[in-house]
Amino acid sequence: MSSFDIDAVRSQFPLLSERTIDDRRLVYLDSGNTSQKPRRVIDAMSEFMERSYAPINRSSYRLAGEATDAYEGARVAIARLINAPSADEVVFTKNATESMNLIAQAWGRANLGAGDVVVLTAMEHHANIVPWQMLAAERDIEIRWIPLTADGQLDLSDLDNLLDGAKVLSFTAMSNVLGTLPPVQRLCRAAHDAGALAVVDACQFVPHNVTDVQTWDADLVAFSSHKMCGPSGIGMLWGKMAILDEMPPFIGGGNMIDTVTFDGFTTAPVPAKFEAGTPPIVEAVGLTAAVEFLEDIGMANIRQHEMNLTRYTLDTLQARFGDDITIFGPDNVEVRGGVFSFTFRDLHPHDVSQVLDETNVCVRAGHHCAKPLMKTLGVAATTRASVYLYNDEADIDALADGLDGATDIFGF
Ligand code: ALA
Repeated sequence: MSSFDIDAVRSQFPLLSERTIDDRRLVYLDSGNTSQKPRRVIDAMSEFMERSYAPINRSSYRLAGEATDAYEGARVAIARLINAPSADEVVFTKNATESMNLIAQAWGRANLGAGDVVVLTAMEHHANIVPWQMLAAERDIEIRWIPLTADGQLDLSDLDNLLDGAKVLSFTAMSNVLGTLPPVQRLCRAAHDAGALAVVDACQFVPHNVTDVQTWDADLVAFSSHKMCGPSGIGMLWGKMAILDEMPPFIGGGNMIDTVTFDGFTTAPVPAKFEAGTPPIVEAVGLTAAVEFLEDIGMANIRQHEMNLTRYTLDTLQARFGDDITIFGPDNVEVRGGVFSFTFRDLHPHDVSQVLDETNVCVRAGHHCAKPLMKTLGVAATTRASVYLYNDEADIDALADGLDGATDIFGF
């Protein structure tokens, strides 16, 4: 049982409650990729564009002040959501990928050189791999990998050795493939004990869980709006002020400067230092509405709902398909979120996804931007269903019925 009314929640999402294809509703199971948007977010953005749109931080007329206040309001909402000590520590970017690149390029270039060590995990997606590899190729940096256990958790048995001499530990708070929830607080402490920076890729975590960056004691945290009911085009970087303050800027241009002369420039204070050019103003307004929407339901309630649904999904798929399905990741819902990557008989994941689409079941198939993890799992690709607050048991039953359909079509 969920502590909130799923039908009432779903009715607030026009795409889920009103859109049909072939006269059937959509069963959206791809929220790990991107989430759907509630009416409140859509309306907030339209109303802002109709009544309040103006540049921010540049013009002194009242309308511009109103737009600036709306933009800055999103910073306050995000700080509240993740229990950041100050809204000034919230930097807006384009997406979580840009936040990770900002960290690798701005912090990394200022602090890492030949022979330095960056520790990642075998369950990272490309946004927390490639930016470090780009830097490693340029600066002769060593990358070490925390391996996985057989059930898709981090194998921390050799953590002290892996962190020995490391300057950075950068890891996901929730795997986009396995659903695994690594022990963030423990990893941040281990990083600090080793003298390393603790960087958390939280883009799969924040939309589904209570987030407290102070309890984590993380140093830098990246996440995005589009996975948490907000619009695409805006991402977040939260960091401890002392660290952000020390970091050089990433992208140069207007808004991020204090002054510019023919000889050079000085930077504006954080967060403006990292927000060159016109930022995603309308998106910030939508993001505030998304945060308020999630807060009204309650992040703890969302997590509880998804734990229940995760148990139901694992049990249903196992009961109906037994050895014909392999679901990756831990079975214990205390350490896993609602992401289910699986292989089904010897069918190609793209075929499975295409057959599911015949009944409007939307899932992702492929490598999920986590090719090294696919190699670890010994597969080229998987089919992945991922749930959110608007999914229920009926959606999982539709997934299972769709898999039965694949069985019929491919003649098992
Ligand atoms: N957005 C990517 C996913 O689907 C990384 O998990």
